[in-house]
Amino acid sequence: MVMWTDGPLCYGGDYNPEQWPASVWAEDVALMRRARVNLVTVGVFAWSRLEPTPGRYTFDWLDRVLDLLHAGGVRVALATPTAAPPPWFSLAHPGALPVTADGVRLHHGSRDTYCAATPAYRQVALRIAAALADRYAHHPALALWHVHNEYGTTCHCEHTARAFRQWLAARHGDLATLNDAWVTAFWSQHYSDWAQISTPRATQYLANPGQLLDFRRFWSDTLLAAYAEQRDLLRAANPAVPITTNYVLGDWVPVDHARWATEVDLVAVDHYPSAVDGGAEEQTALAADLARGWARRAATGQPAAVASGTGGMPPGAAPAWLLMETAPHQIHTAGRMHTKEPGRLLRHALAHVARGSHGAMFFQWRAPTGGAERFHGALVPHAGPDSRAFRDSVQLGTALSRLAEVSGGVESSVALVVDAASGWALRHPGLPSTLLDHHQEVAAAHRALWRAGYAGDTVSPGDPVDGYRLLVLPALYLVSDATAGWLRAYVHGGGHLLATYLSGVADEHARVRLGGYPGALRDLLGVRVEEFHPLAADAHARLDNGGTGRIWAETLRLTGADTIVSYAGGVLDAMPAVTRHRYGAGTAWYVSTRPDDTTYRRLLDTAARTAGIAPVCPAAPEGVEAVRRRNGNASWLFLLNHTDREQRVPARGTELLSATTVRQAVVLPPNGVAVLRETRVESAAAGG
Ligand code: GAL
Repeated sequence: MVMWTDGPLCYGGDYNPEQWPASVWAEDVALMRRARVNLVTVGVFAWSRLEPTPGRYTFDWLDRVLDLLHAGGVRVALATPTAAPPPWFSLAHPGALPVTADGVRLHHGSRDTYCAATPAYRQVALRIAAALADRYAHHPALALWHVHNEYGTTCHCEHTARAFRQWLAARHGDLATLNDAWVTAFWSQHYSDWAQISTPRATQYLANPGQLLDFRRFWSDTLLAAYAEQRDLLRAANPAVPITTNYVLGDWVPVDHARWATEVDLVAVDHYPSAVDGGAEEQTALAADLARGWARRAATGQPAAVASGTGGMPPGAAPAWLLMETAPHQIHTAGRMHTKEPGRLLRHALAHVARGSHGAMFFQWRAPTGGAERFHGALVPHAGPDSRAFRDSVQLGTALSRLAEVSGGVESSVALVVDAASGWALRHPGLPSTLLDHHQEVAAAHRALWRAGYAGDTVSPGDPVDGYRLLVLPALYLVSDATAGWLRAYVHGGGHLLATYLSGVADEHARVRLGGYPGALRDLLGVRVEEFHPLAADAHARLDNGGTGRIWAETLRLTGADTIVSYAGGVLDAMPAVTRHRYGAGTAWYVSTRPDDTTYRRLLDTAARTAGIAPVCPAAPEGVEAVRRRNGNASWLFLLNHTDREQRVPARGTELLSATTVRQAVVLPPNGVAVLRETRVESAAAGG
């Protein structure tokens, strides 16, 4: 397979020529050349234009488009259009339309109007993928297959229920094991025949947590199977072309991206920040760090350990990934569209490249005149090329073309443990608080590290973690015996761990562990919790270091750990809130509440320094994000000024965007960026 991620950084986005008369296509290619666009996703929602009636294909327009792009030097990520079946399919197969948990069958008129477990859908999806493969697998413009779009919709139809039962039988073996895992003795749910089990449809009252969790796992596997059968077919047509699908991020997504990562040739993610303030930059950094964590699995079949002690990936092991979609000139929040301020497009794009993305791709190339997303941002906006937006698109293309030499992994000695199943389980009803959220806890810990100037990797339970000095466990609710053993071995061997509340409370089936919380991690953390004290949404617990805690508090007894911070006031007055425990050669911290951002930042900074880790660029002023990529002896420092003031960062090297030599300090304009090829300062010893 030809992995082209060694070449120039990718720049482009979703290109939908089927929405435009052919007369616009030549202008498109000319504008792409002006903007230095070099990769576009084509055909992603073009099924009804490619197969207007069942089995009859109209490829003539796509032939012309691919030839035009190729002649213009633009490579193609050719999509299979299977996320938007044509109307004829829904009419012929009404049973393939998705059904909600309430039993409502959804209709045509949008996208994703199919159930991925339905044989009729899977057959036509494979048929159009095969037709595309037959025609284009050896087209010279083809750089990447882009299967489907954002696998993520769910269904509760009879086909799904049947498939769910088969999956359960394979997972649990027999009904006795399933009944035990789901604790069906509760509320008379004991199953005596597989046929009695359905998907977790709408119920009178709270649903069974084990059933909900298994349904999520099953559905992730079902979508993966739908992806994998298209992939295998495309691979057979031309093994040289890499294949991927674009991950949609969000805690609602029924996909375990870490598990999927070994099934794609290149991890590709779509990221749309939901905040318009500084939260957008924090979300961008987290999304990119998640993508890099998945990419490590994709690259090696399993995650590679970072270079011990020094942080960063060993040379050659740097996994590339690709930001496949983001909005160029706007941030789209649920309620309104926010136009990005000057400089923000470039800063967001470079934040992804700094964290390992092999470029920046956007939704979409040209803003359409109609359709549901007619006001979504585009590299070519409604106003046309004579616009600030297009000029910014050109500026970004120029900037990316100047960063071709950047390569290698991201320096980091801290990793956050992220687990899709814990995220799903903490969305179940019947928990002690509705504010519990694994992903929000991951985001809070990541934000604290980000603000303190540390780059954080993300890993999954069980991944190799020898090279990290500090592991952060944000509400890792589900901890199997194997995961508990993995954590113990890490700390015992000298690692530092910081676990937050609810970690280890339940096993992999979401059954609560007995004997005191935090169940699987009691001995490692040296604490025992008898009672929770969840806090109201607007309440705070005071801490004796001047900070506050939110969401959660608990009665913590020490069984070996020392108190670092105590609660102050209220029923928990003077009781431990944050503890530290020596375990083997390592240290395990426990944080029993969600500290406010400043307190959390200080806490993680202390934990990191105790573990011997320094921020990426200690001299960087507040509000300047620093990320270092390293490949062997070469290193590049990305500096992103998220403030509207000029900032000065002491550094030496060559600034690549302006091609200037930096002798003492980089001066960043307000909201500006710099990428420095660093000059190696030889150590005294090496200097002789
Ligand atoms: C993505 C999707 C695109 C477009 C975009 C709008 O999630 O893949 O097709 O809908 O959102 O933000």
